[in-house]
Amino acid sequence: MMGLQGKVAIVTGAARGIGRAVAIRLAAEGVSVVACDLDPRAPWLKTDDFIKEPQSVMSVVDEIRSGGGNAVGIYADITVEGEVNDVITLALKEFGRVDILSNNAGVALTKLVHETTLEDWERVIRVNATGTFITCRAVARLFMDQRSGSIINTASIAGKTGTPSFGAYCASKAAVILLTNVLAKELAPFNARANCICPGMVKTDMWKKLNQEMGKYLQLKPGQTPMEKLLEATPISKPEEPEDIAGLVAFLASDDAYFITGQAINIDGGYESH
Ligand SMILES: NC(=O)c1ccc[n+]([C@@H]2O[C@H](COP(=O)([O-])OP(=O)(O)OC[C@H]3O[C@@H](n4cnc5c(N)ncnc54)[C@H](O)[C@@H]3O)[C@@H](O)[C@H]2O)c1
Repeated sequence: MMGLQGKVAIVTGAARGIGRAVAIRLAAEGVSVVACDLDPRAPWLKTDDFIKEPQSVMSVVDEIRSGGGNAVGIYADITVEGEVNDVITLALKEFGRVDILSNNAGVALTKLVHETTLEDWERVIRVNATGTFITCRAVARLFMDQRSGSIINTASIAGKTGTPSFGAYCASKAAVILLTNVLAKELAPFNARANCICPGMVKTDMWKKLNQEMGKYLQLKPGQTPMEKLLEATPISKPEEPEDIAGLVAFLASDDAYFITGQAINIDGGYESH
């Protein structure tokens, strides 16, 4: 156990992928989890090619509860300030405090810069950068008042190095990394921390989409997928599982990481190293 027992976490993007694994891992460590994600019944989702099979965040809540853990779920779009406020209100009502924010809600886009419409750009920046800003700002106020707390933002190795066809995504994740770095400096006097994690290639629905769309921008061997191509350049040349990422989030949330703040930590099998 990592000393997380009794803490309270808000986990965004918790319906599937990395966010889901984080919610389950934190709950297994004794954390009370407020899991949030988009409402899968929202009409605009039906026209969003990204979310073909929306999953409800309530299913992760059921899974945690059936394993004996503590969780509540709420539909919230992180780009809508009022909905994020509802998440905070629910956390305070159900569990009385917030100790951890794990931001995983995000969207990807594969287009060369000259193909990217203003609408594409604004959507990716709005969810990944602005949404992260809205949730961070909401908990920053709480963390300063209570003089503790840990923010863990899921950025990406794409926030550090450009990749063709990832212009909007890279820019959005670079924004997350620098926002987090600033927050770390602003929160340190209040005994609170902020870090980013930068995953490489994690087997989630997001990568299913990238595997379909990225091929035309890479020189693939016959039958090779984009992920297989990128793994060729990765020292630990196998895809990550969401659970691999969740362990790093749990560590950064814990008091064992009390000296780690302002960092953007790669968890990428060595794909990128400095
Ligand atoms: N999969 C990877 O290889 C990888 C690598 C690096 C970084 N990341 C980042 O990790 C995070 C999670 O990625 P994933 O692979 O699990 O993706 P995913 O698509 O499987 O899950 C993302 C979740 O975020 C939710 N979401 C999207 N927009 C939202 C909004 N406005 N409000 C609330 N929830 C919203 C979706 O409904 C979905 O459940 C993302 O920020 C992604 O950019 C993923």
